Amino acid sequence: MKKELIEEATKAREKAYAPYSNFKVGSAVLTKSGKVFTGANIENASYGASVCAERVALFKAISEGETEIVEIAVVTCAEEPTMPCGICRQVLKEFSENLKIYAANLEGKVIETTIDRLLPMAFTREDLENKK
Ligand code: THU
Repeated sequence: MKKELIEEATKAREKAYAPYSNFKVGSAVLTKSGKVFTGANIENASYGASVCAERVALFKAISEGETEIVEIAVVTCAEEPTMPCGICRQVLKEFSENLKIYAANLEGKVIETTIDRLLPMAFTREDLENKK
């Protein structure tokens, strides 16, 4: 699914609302059941209210009844493909089991990694269940 997800994320990027940063990001997630959902970053005049493309795509999937994602693509125009931010890493971790991540730029350069590499020793639901 790598190629298809990157293509979907590239298309979704065109819908980004990023008038403040001018940094458009597109994303596409593949759910465990085989469905694809896309997203783009959506900024706001109150900057802190902005949402990254990855979380838009993920939340679309979860809110449509999907419970887990297995792959995600992130596409930007950066010279070097860029990785999901810290907040997105934490949110992606909640809904995946060693998620595969494809970070790509518009020239077709792709860096492949996993959520466990980007967010080692994560704080998770299990930690909350471990309390004394
Ligand atoms: N952004 C994303 O959508 N995903 C990332 O992985 C990094 C950052 C957005 C947030 C903001 O709209 C813009 O890029 C600049 O930070």
